[in-house]
Amino acid sequence: MDLDGNITALDKVSVNVDTGNERRDRGPVYRSTLSNGMPVWTVAGYDEAIAALNDSRLSAAAMLAAGALDGGKLEPDLRDALLKGLTNSDPPDHTRLRRLVSSVFTARRVEAMRPWIARLTEDLIDGFAPGDRVELMTAFAEPLPILVISELLGIPEADRPRVRDWSRTIISGLGSPDFPVAAAVEFVDYLRDLIADRREHPDDALISGLIRARDERDALTANELTSTIFLMIVAGHDTTVSLIGNGVYLLMTQPDLAVRLREDAGRLPGAIEEFLRLESPVPTANMRAAVESFDLGDTRISAGDLVAIDLQAANRDSARFTDPARLDPARAQGRHLAFGHGIHFCLGAPLARLEGELAIGTLLRRFPGLRLAVPAAEMTWSQATFVHRPDALPLMLA
Ligand code: HEM
Repeated sequence: MDLDGNITALDKVSVNVDTGNERRDRGPVYRSTLSNGMPVWTVAGYDEAIAALNDSRLSAAAMLAAGALDGGKLEPDLRDALLKGLTNSDPPDHTRLRRLVSSVFTARRVEAMRPWIARLTEDLIDGFAPGDRVELMTAFAEPLPILVISELLGIPEADRPRVRDWSRTIISGLGSPDFPVAAAVEFVDYLRDLIADRREHPDDALISGLIRARDERDALTANELTSTIFLMIVAGHDTTVSLIGNGVYLLMTQPDLAVRLREDAGRLPGAIEEFLRLESPVPTANMRAAVESFDLGDTRISAGDLVAIDLQAANRDSARFTDPARLDPARAQGRHLAFGHGIHFCLGAPLARLEGELAIGTLLRRFPGLRLAVPAAEMTWSQATFVHRPDALPLMLA
């Protein structure tokens, strides 16, 4: 680390992580194939990614209908009940659905959750003691976000483990050759039963609010109701698990930075932005399909083509970020794309940032001597298209 606190040579410790550099070397927009065999344009340049995310000729609804996520394995009603939610819709449906949920996640309402999330974090950490060896992903990074989103939505405590398992299985299977149809059927059945139960016994949480919006104002269809709940569950927890895991991993490989953040917690929000940029939890944005032909940068996209925006590669584009592999909490340069851009920009960004800050900050404060229990180079990382995080993060607590 230099005197300004800049971290150098980060790629050296990330040897087993595909940072997107190799992919970007293939050009800002290049032809590739999804693991389910469907051809796709991958967008790896920052400027091209922004252009694609802003382009209304790229449709999320058309992508879903083309079977890019489920490989065509789900019959249309089940596919819509699971996946149609706002992220796979275009305006005006998208605008209507987004309005229904956005008020819950404003910066002000999320900030009001700080004491509650801080307490949940402390409670989880109370279960650890100095000298323990913990696998941080299962012991901490996973439980915290599922607790938070379950409380916000009103998922009963007893159901949370299976909800987490279904959501993880489905997310890992998106765009893959073996989309997990059985898990999709079970999860949609579960959501429909939960909705029926909440109709009888409403509470103050978001699911009951969405049911009221459907029943009293016909504001969304039955399939939009289930798919929006599904989206909130998966988008609301799995991604934040990765932010916590990736952030702690980066700190463990940059001990000087960990010391600085403990001494000055005011640097933490800047560090979180760099964790998001360098090891983006959602490596690829939701795919889109072109509804008409157009040029993206120098590449001709034809109507019907699928487009995947490689956020991870764009976030390390040297044309946008000086010395992009360097972790620099003070970096004031442009916005990273870890939360996407444009109309589908992550609704949960304020919540994710708060959870990341509280989780990582509290861990650092309570265990100043925290360190990796295995060499960084031995760690393995998820290979799923939409998930970027270590499979496991063994730590020694001190
Ligand atoms: C570090 C954690 C998170 C990351 C990296 C992340 C990333 C993203 C990205 C990249 C998108 C845009 C996808 C696209 O344009 O195709 C997105 C959308 C979305 N995220 Fe997040 N997210 C995170 C946490 C959350 C949380 C905590 C919630 C809470 C509920 C959430 C809810 C959503 C929703 C509802 C959308 C869809 C928005 C729309 O289509 O209009 N996310 N997220």
